[in-house]
Amino acid sequence: MTGRATAEAPANIAFIKYWGAHDLGRGVPLNTSVSMTLDRCVSTCTVETRPAKSDDPGSADEVFLAESDGLQPAPEAFARRVLNHLDRLRCLVDDDVAFRVATKNSFPAAAGMASSASGFAALTLATTRALGLDPSRHELSVLARRSGSGSAARSVLGGYVELPGGPHEEDVYARPLASAEDWELRDVVAVVATEPKSVSSLEGHRRVRSSPYFRERLALLPGRLDAVRQAIEGRDFHLLGPVVEEEGIDLHLVAMSAIPPIFYWTPGTIETLDGVRKLRRDGVEAYSTMDAGPNVHVICRPADEAQVAERLTELASVQRVIRDGVGSGPRLCEDHLL
Ligand code: DP6
Repeated sequence: MTGRATAEAPANIAFIKYWGAHDLGRGVPLNTSVSMTLDRCVSTCTVETRPAKSDDPGSADEVFLAESDGLQPAPEAFARRVLNHLDRLRCLVDDDVAFRVATKNSFPAAAGMASSASGFAALTLATTRALGLDPSRHELSVLARRSGSGSAARSVLGGYVELPGGPHEEDVYARPLASAEDWELRDVVAVVATEPKSVSSLEGHRRVRSSPYFRERLALLPGRLDAVRQAIEGRDFHLLGPVVEEEGIDLHLVAMSAIPPIFYWTPGTIETLDGVRKLRRDGVEAYSTMDAGPNVHVICRPADEAQVAERLTELASVQRVIRDGVGSGPRLCEDHLL
């Protein structure tokens, strides 16, 4: 069997975070999460299939990063995650196939920018298509989640997306809350660091359960979830913003109080959080949130985007500002990387 497909899938920013897992290997979260799918922060992935020897088809798989100067072998840890996922997807067909994969991101990887979410969503879509399959969004969400990146399960849909928590694995697939056209919010990302984060999300999920405040966090989540769902349904930014900001800080609170503690924040994170509060004092309604990394996502309405971007750019520790917004989800494309 030979086939080739290229998919582009977006990153997403969680308003209610997946933090702590029932089953890390299969990406089954402890709690329900809600995210906004992004538009410009995307991963592109091309997958080629070809017949392989039946004794060990996986041994012929190859994984590359598509850099500006050509294809480079993927770093080992990243390649291992991709190869493990390819092994899972290979089981969907009876033929013995080997894969060649090339992938790239439009944004800095591994810096709290959910590159695994977009990367594994793109890999899952491209691989299934290259295998001649046409999974539904529900099936795609489940397959993407089994990569171990639970947030990838949300990146298969556009707009605003909810992913239920476990323990029942079959319930854990993305559900749409509203489309991108329903509510046009923006995410202005203040990049304060681009180096890979010191502690992976995977290790974060494992460790945060040791925080004495983790139980408290779980108790607060149903109220926050209700507020976020209601805000999205009613396009109520005054309701959404404070909850999103509180939740973003809470993720880090339980990380910092885990045993041993995890500190993702840098002085640049603090400067940016302070900058967002100053923006609000000056009458610009903008709210911060962060994933497992130091960079700060600033959520605002389209009319305030330019001012938010300008003010963040002025901060000494902000290296770069990425202006993104809600997007409409993954797509197949013809810009093949192989
Ligand atoms: C903090 O297990 O999906 O971003 O695979 O690295 O994206 P990655 O991590 P994953 O956990 C995501 C954790 C989070 C919060 C969230 O996106 O819900």
